[in-house]
Amino acid sequence: MQQTRTLEITELKKKAEQMRQDQTQASAREELERQTTFMVENRDLWCEGRRYFIMTYGCQLNENDSERIAGLLEEMGMVAADDVETADMVVLNTCSIRENAAGRFFGNLGIIKNLKRDRPDLITVACGCLMRQEPHVDRIRKSYYFVDLVFGPADIYRLPELLNRRLCDKRPVYEVSNTKLIVEDLPITRKRKYRALLSIMYGCNNFCTFCIVPQARGRERSRKPAAIFKELQELSDASYSEVMLLGQNVNSYGKDLRKSEDYMSFPDLLRHAASDFELPLIRFMSSHPRDIDEDLLRVMAEYPNIERHLHLPLQSGSDRILKTMNRHYTLEQYLKTAHKARELIDDLAITTDIIVGFPGETEEDFQATLDVMREVGYEQAFMFIYSPRPGTLAAKMDQLDPELVKERFMRMTELQNELSRRAMEAQVGREMLMLCEGLSAQRDDRFAARSSQNYLCNFSLRMSQLPERLRQLAPEQLGAVLEGRFARVKITGAKSFSLEGEMVELIL
Ligand code: SAH
Ligand code: SF4
Ligand code: F3S
Repeated sequence: MQQTRTLEITELKKKAEQMRQDQTQASAREELERQTTFMVENRDLWCEGRRYFIMTYGCQLNENDSERIAGLLEEMGMVAADDVETADMVVLNTCSIRENAAGRFFGNLGIIKNLKRDRPDLITVACGCLMRQEPHVDRIRKSYYFVDLVFGPADIYRLPELLNRRLCDKRPVYEVSNTKLIVEDLPITRKRKYRALLSIMYGCNNFCTFCIVPQARGRERSRKPAAIFKELQELSDASYSEVMLLGQNVNSYGKDLRKSEDYMSFPDLLRHAASDFELPLIRFMSSHPRDIDEDLLRVMAEYPNIERHLHLPLQSGSDRILKTMNRHYTLEQYLKTAHKARELIDDLAITTDIIVGFPGETEEDFQATLDVMREVGYEQAFMFIYSPRPGTLAAKMDQLDPELVKERFMRMTELQNELSRRAMEAQVGREMLMLCEGLSAQRDDRFAARSSQNYLCNFSLRMSQLPERLRQLAPEQLGAVLEGRFARVKITGAKSFSLEGEMVELIL
């Protein structure tokens, strides 16, 4: 009896949650219709044929947001400008993860201030993570009053409406909200034609004490699997070679959908992405060590079209520091995951993020981090000097001497250079399947490609290896043709962060 009742209650709760979700979906659809009306109006009002230029700071989530912004602007009739000087609208999509990201934004605003003096009609838009912090918005209001539009990362879908207000009123529009609404089916203009970014969730619930992201991007919200699958199908139909699934913590994907019929865990989502869409290469980022489980590692091992690369941010190798960082894992748990990953997945590259000089870090703590680096043998590491972010807990803690931190940072970089070089050297002599990215940035008789492990390789080829029709092309044209194609490459040399190779065969 008791059991039946519990089941009934669970069922009722599920139904209530489903109704709530249905309502949210209905308002998201209404919102899309509303914005579409503004898009049509804006086209005639101002947008048709005008040029936009977007500057993106920060991570791939921001890059993906910029692609949505570009999609919306193009839907209103605008076209991309080659540079900021020829643009009618400039968009600065900001990042606030470290002090220097904020610094670069304000530096560029200074340049735009001068541009605007000669061209008062230029529309300036500031959006992204930095806008979620009142002091920065205040600074814009006071010192950069020429900025026309200000909105936050959650407000992108409202761009048509906000722009319309600015075009009609001629007054600046400031709208930074923390809405949880996810509006699907917005247009998108992807930057690359072979690698697609795909955000599967927004926000973060973790509150690591050093990090501004939860404030900037709000609480975790997962897109529904159906919406993600629809996008994956579109990418597959458009013959994309690589898709990168994005979230601040992809392993907690779906937790907010748990009570609804839409629930799906990240390993299941990844399994479907790998098996149902004929996509050649699937990457994902980032995995929080606290939420990762063996299921994910097993899915990775099972599907060859999932990258042989795991980004597993360590931040610190000291349990004491991990605790003050509020990371919710111990070193033992972290190492267990890293070793299990190497055991289950052949030929895996593990990369990481590490912070040097977090408040309270002693030489002993620092040495513990170096020890972990040696033990895991990271193929690559992104190392950052701790940067206090106003509004986070760690910013209020006692800070270390910057000179001491710089010195530690140098020692850490030296160690990682050595680890990366060794990892690269171990590849020499192998033949690897690589995804071509076009002409190499270093030399115009070479081409760049990446392996499933995300190793960068600059390779040469012989014209005789190419089909007749490609042999007459100039290097840049050939680079453009090769973009997004796979090639088998023999690795002939290694540098600290990249490989050298010769093409064995182009797979068309
Ligand atoms: N969600 C990801 C991290 C995204 S931010 C994760 O938890 O793994 C990318 C990296 O920036 C972080 O992993 C961290 O190493 C670094 N970072 C974040 N806040 C920082 C700060 N205040 N100072 C220095 N580095 C920071
Ligand atoms: Fe920041 Fe931590 Fe969230 Fe990563 S998991 S975005 S470091 S709060
Ligand atoms: Fe920066 Fe926001 Fe990404 S703070 S790192 S752009 S989530």
